[in-house]
Amino acid sequence: MKVFISRQIPNLGLKLLENAGIEYDLYPSDYAIPRTDFIASLKSNNYHAIISTLSDKIDAELLDIAGKQVKIVANFAVGYANIDIDECSKRGIAVSNTPDVLSAATADMAFTLLLATARRLIEGHELIQNDAWQGWTPTQLLGQDLKQKTLGIIGMGRIGEEMAKRALGFNMKVVYHNRKPKPQTEAELKVKYLNLNELLSESDFVSLHCPLSPATKHLIGKKEFELMKNTAIIINTARGAVINEQELVAALKQGQIWAAGLDVFEFEPKITEELKHIPNVVLAPHLGSATQGTRDAMIELAVESIIAVLSNKTTANILNKEVF
Ligand code: GLV
Repeated sequence: MKVFISRQIPNLGLKLLENAGIEYDLYPSDYAIPRTDFIASLKSNNYHAIISTLSDKIDAELLDIAGKQVKIVANFAVGYANIDIDECSKRGIAVSNTPDVLSAATADMAFTLLLATARRLIEGHELIQNDAWQGWTPTQLLGQDLKQKTLGIIGMGRIGEEMAKRALGFNMKVVYHNRKPKPQTEAELKVKYLNLNELLSESDFVSLHCPLSPATKHLIGKKEFELMKNTAIIINTARGAVINEQELVAALKQGQIWAAGLDVFEFEPKITEELKHIPNVVLAPHLGSATQGTRDAMIELAVESIIAVLSNKTTANILNKEVF
């Protein structure tokens, strides 16, 4: 059995494959494999599994080239908007992702961005770096309090719940919007369901935790920014395209919202140029799950799924269980 790995992964993953007696070819780059190289690599038709990452488009063309012997595409991410699951299912190919293990790290990153925007950390850092700081003043770089403020969570899945717990620890009120209300989460965490418009107009902070899908693409744009408070801060650690990035720039420039903390971008890795020059924007290069422990846990899950599927077994992380 042989796996194609579309770019460098944590060493643990390679060790686990070796221990299981599974061979692999690895595209030797930290960065995304160009499509032409991906296609050329799969042409040999001798891979039984593919480890993909969030920028690898797995579609009908690629699957046809990969061949009939492919049994699983293991996405090294919790999000899987890059994969055409229906096309995989049609061919009997299982698709797995890496949920749960990255929820805490991703919520930590969302909360880091929330604090960094609220307290203007990067502006302060730059002031010092540029030798422009002349000392403490009563009015310098005043930010926003967290206590008693309302955090609106859009997408109350596993990461959204972790985010809620962090906010509650900071004495914030938490409201949420989700495809379906979640009474159990409401009872456990004391959070309140609101429709999207109510959430946007009531929240001091809005944090996105929904998957990208046709229904959530550009969920937040001009109309939504108009509903938000002028003092509101938006945080995105989900997928860039959930926000219309050009309309975000306009909302920030017009003072319709106060700040944005972004870990993901609509045209990643390209960043809408203006975002780099707006002072109350904090940018992170898609670091949500980027801790050693979390990335190890993610690759462990991906390899576990591959081992199971190559032995004709399913696992909890298979997204299209109908293939079994
Ligand atoms: C990262 O963005 C992921 O989906 O795991």
